[in-house]
Amino acid sequence: ICRGLSSSAVRHVVIKNVTIIGGGQMGAGIAQVAASTGHAVTLVDTNEDILKKAVKGIEGNLKRVVKKKFADKPEAGEEFLQKAMQNVSISTDAGSVVQGTDLVVEAIVENLKVKQDLFGGLDKVAPAHTIFASNTSSLSITDIASSTNRLDRFGGLHFFNPVPVMRLVEVIATSSTSQETFDSLLNFSKMLGKTSVSCKDTPGFIVNRLLLPYILDAVRMYERGDGSKEDIDIAMKLGCGYPMGPFELSDYVGLDTMKFIMDGWSAANPDNPMFAQSEVLNKLVAEGKFGKKTGEGFYKYK
Ligand code: CAA
Ligand code: NAD
Repeated sequence: ICRGLSSSAVRHVVIKNVTIIGGGQMGAGIAQVAASTGHAVTLVDTNEDILKKAVKGIEGNLKRVVKKKFADKPEAGEEFLQKAMQNVSISTDAGSVVQGTDLVVEAIVENLKVKQDLFGGLDKVAPAHTIFASNTSSLSITDIASSTNRLDRFGGLHFFNPVPVMRLVEVIATSSTSQETFDSLLNFSKMLGKTSVSCKDTPGFIVNRLLLPYILDAVRMYERGDGSKEDIDIAMKLGCGYPMGPFELSDYVGLDTMKFIMDGWSAANPDNPMFAQSEVLNKLVAEGKFGKKTGEGFYKYK
């Protein structure tokens, strides 16, 4: 690994090789951005089909970007595309690929036990310098990190959907995250072309702590019959200038992920009506209607 000095003269690990675990909407997006900014990326998921789909998606997105950005220079565009795609490898065996990695970014299912099991296993095989980061939406980074022996080299890197478009990354330090690790994560976010904000390890960090209560309140408004989902979406788009209304955004995020977040927070705060269970959301998830990714959620996409 290379080490460099950050502007605050604190040492940070220069991240070249990145392993991204989870090839769903977030993992594929993070892989796309990391590969197109010159990082060697290995994308890991449980089966080859998911990975092939992810790589196809990345290539399709990059082709769109190239068509626009390199409209006058198609050859340079083709070279950029080739280089970015060469930076992406795939694997179904996280344990073997982390041997040569500087950073692991985890973007698997929003479940504490599953994330702990993953990191606990990787901790035993990853090199000492490797930094671990979770893209969790709502879980405690401290709790996830507790399954490892590298609390100082563990933090949060919270991206937003769609990753290639959304400009923010929340960088989360626990009370055990070292300054070197935190600076490495800030520097990596900068290398990806993102703006970062520093967050404490509090539920939902900054964005989701404000966004989720708003979305859940919209769902409850709809459940009470105080507004149709279409009208609520139109109202928030045209009344507030939001790019998507709360129901469109829920479908975009994934109703399964929304339910994982709601379940975790309502269990931790059973008396807080802000995080109370939603019958409509529970029903849609029970029916396998997870939103855009399954073709139906609050709305139909087929
Ligand atoms: N990958 C790459 N590029 C994409 C993309 C994707 N998945 N989706 C859209 N784009 C690009 C388009 O190519 C287009 O590029 P140009 O401006 O260069 O032409 C640009 O984004 C705009 O796209 P569209 O014209 O197709 O559509 P749009 O104007 O309706 O924008 C949107 C789409 C960017 C998704 C917009 O609707 C939006 O910002 N929605 C809100 C998204 C949001 O709030 N995300 C945060 C969710 S919360 C979260 O992520 C945290 C969590 O833990 C749950
Ligand atoms: P997704 O369902 O699209 O993808 C998750 C992927 O992880 C799937 O492909 C699944 O096969 C894979 N996976 C599950 N367990 C695995 C394991 N043990 N090893 C390897 N791969 C495994 O979900 P997503 O929307 O990409 O969300 C992923 C994470 O990112 C979650 O923690 C979520 O809370 C967080 N997040 C989501 C959003 C969003 O808007 N969807 C935004 C920011 C953060």
